Order: sequence, then C-alpha cells, then structure tokens
Amino acid sequence: MTSTDVIAAADCEQVLVVRDRAAGATAVLAVHDTRRGPAHGGIRRARYPDLGAAVADAVALAQAMTWKCALAELPAGGGKTVVLDHDGLDRTAAYRLVGRTVAQLGGRYFTGPDVGTGDDDLRVVAAETPFVATATAADAGPGDLAAATATGVLAALGALAERLGARVADLRVAVQGLGAVGWQLCRLLHGAGAHLVVADVLAVRTAEAATAFGAAVVAPERITATPCDVFAPCALGGVLTPAVCEQLPARGVCGAANNVFTGADAAAVLHRRGVLAVPDFVANAGALILGATWHLQRVRADAARLQRIGATAGLLLDRARTEDVPPAVLALQLARERAAAPPG
Ligand code: NAI
Repeated sequence: MTSTDVIAAADCEQVLVVRDRAAGATAVLAVHDTRRGPAHGGIRRARYPDLGAAVADAVALAQAMTWKCALAELPAGGGKTVVLDHDGLDRTAAYRLVGRTVAQLGGRYFTGPDVGTGDDDLRVVAAETPFVATATAADAGPGDLAAATATGVLAALGALAERLGARVADLRVAVQGLGAVGWQLCRLLHGAGAHLVVADVLAVRTAEAATAFGAAVVAPERITATPCDVFAPCALGGVLTPAVCEQLPARGVCGAANNVFTGADAAAVLHRRGVLAVPDFVANAGALILGATWHLQRVRADAARLQRIGATAGLLLDRARTEDVPPAVLALQLARERAAAPPG
C-alpha cells in the first residue's frame, strides 16, 4: 500500500512529515480524528526501514488512540508522533522539532510519552510547547501517569473479578513485568488482599516484590504457564499468541501492556476457551484519562473518573458473553460508534 492508501484506509485527518534540515532529523505527526475533540497521543522513537513504514506506524497508532479516547469517554481524538531513529540521531534536535510542530498545531494535538521517549526528551518538547504531558509531573501537571494506569487496571480487574464470581481479595494474579505500572498494580492488589505471582527479567524487581508483597516469583518464561485466576501482562506486547492462549492456565486476562494479543485469532482462542479478557486499550486508559483531563480542563482526574474504566470493562465482558463475540472485537465496534457520534 502507498502512504496515501494507508492514510485513506485509516480515514486519517492529517499527516505531517517534518525535518530539521541542519540536524537531519525527521518525524511524522498523525492527527487521526478530532471529531470528539483535540487529538491525543505520545511520541514513539523507533527505527523504520523507510518513511512509508514510519507513516504507516504513526497512522495506525493514532487510529488506536482515537478508539482508546472514545472508549474512555474523553472529549478527545487520536494522534501520534514517530521520531525516525538512526545511528547518530541528534535526539535533542529531533524532540525540539517535534515540540515546534506540536506548537504550530496550536492545541489541535496534545502529546506525551511513548516507547523510546523519556522524561528528558519530554522536557525538550515542553520547552517549545505547552501541549505536552510529562511522564512524572508530580507537583504541577496531570499527576503520576503510571499510577493512574495501575488504578485503571485495578478497576477493570474488579469488574472482571465480579464476572468470575469472586472478589479481588480472592484472586491469584500473575503479573508479568514489574516496571512503572506493574509495580504499582502489585501494590494495589496486595493492598486489596490478592495473592501475587510475579515475573520480570530483572531479578532485583522480583526479589523486591517478594519482600514487599509476599509475591511468589517465577522465571519470565514460565509466567504464562503458571496457574492463576487472572493473568496481568504489564511488560511487552505480543505475549498472547494463539499457542499461548490455547494453554494459558487463567480464567481472565487484564493488564496494561499494549497490543498484548498477536492478532484477532489469539483473542478468539481465549474467547472460545471461556477466558474473559479485558481489552488492553480499555484497561490501560488511566494515563490517557489523566493527561487528557489535565490538558483539556487543567484539573487532575480523580479516582472516580478512573473507576469508570471498570464500568466499561464490565459492559464489554457482559456483552461478549451475551453476544458470543470476543471483548476486543466488541470494544472496537463500540469505539467506532462513539468516535462517529461525538458528545454534544
Ligand atoms: P516499564 O518499562 O516501566 O516496565 C516494563 C517491565 O517489564 C520492566 O520491569 C521490564 O524489566 C519488564 N520486562 C521486560 N520484558 C519482560 C519479560 N519478557 N518478562 C517479564 N518482564 C519483562 O513499562 P511500564 O510503563 O510499566 O508499561 C508496561 C506496559 O504497559 C507497556 O506495554 C506499556 O506500553 C503499557 N502502558 C503503560 C502506560 C503507562 O502509564 N506507563 C500506559 C498505557 C500502557
């Protein structure tokens, strides 16, 4: 497909390719849909084989943000930036370029963190534009984004527990990845009385979790084969392949990791087996809700706002059962409907 076809197929509003001539830095900004409100989406820094691949990634990620905003009931749409990484990239110049371009969009697009973009990069962007949320703006700004993500995942887990006929306190939850979100999720689950089994490639993190939360520890390659009530992926995407889904010894899946299924076929396997999976882009919307609420209203989203993630998760799980369709498929349908019928 040509880039024009990619942009048309996703029905994307605007794509900008910008370049810092002196530094040789290139970035792609995609504004997918502003019908519900200004576009929101972070900055990814990655290597691409060519500009077409970067455009395709930016557009696909921006479209996913539109669905995520709609499901989170935000008056916002989807956008995304990709910075084309290469050996010797002048990172400061690249993020300054992004900041200048976001500033030129004048509030049509708000940005923030994503894979490959750290706090230092966001500070460079923030020097050029106010339309950016930093990752850990603790004193001024939206608040702790990872903590909000964990709170949202817990809300979704509560809805899932109900559908499993249990309380969170009764659950054995297998948490994959003890980074910014996974650690906070463990803290919340431990506080709620749940039993934890954890894995991380960093042994120091699992040792800390064993001490702090009484968590059982398994090797990273064993976590998807460990019997539990709920599997909570909080590391990488693409963990749930059809083969893993065939044998996953869990009754439910609910975590923060983006694109946790390798594809619709994998999600269908879990559905066939009666394993209830909360779609990742529903469960992990906490950071987006915090960032967007701050950008749009200059207030910090409160806990009640994040709890609504639980209501959406419950709605989807119930409909999935009644209509016999995987929750991820329903989530996409609902998102498309909401995006096309913006709030009045
Ligand atoms: P992070 O980078 O802080 O933590 C990831 C953790 O996973 C690290 O401790 C890492 O050692 C571990 N890990 C990596 N490979 C692993 C493996 N094979 N097995 C077990 N552990 C492994 O990332 P963060 O911010 O906690 O995000 C986690 C996931 O949630 C990511 O997929 C991210 O895209 C997604 N997410 C994060 C949000 C946020 O607010 N930080 C918001 C929405 C989604």
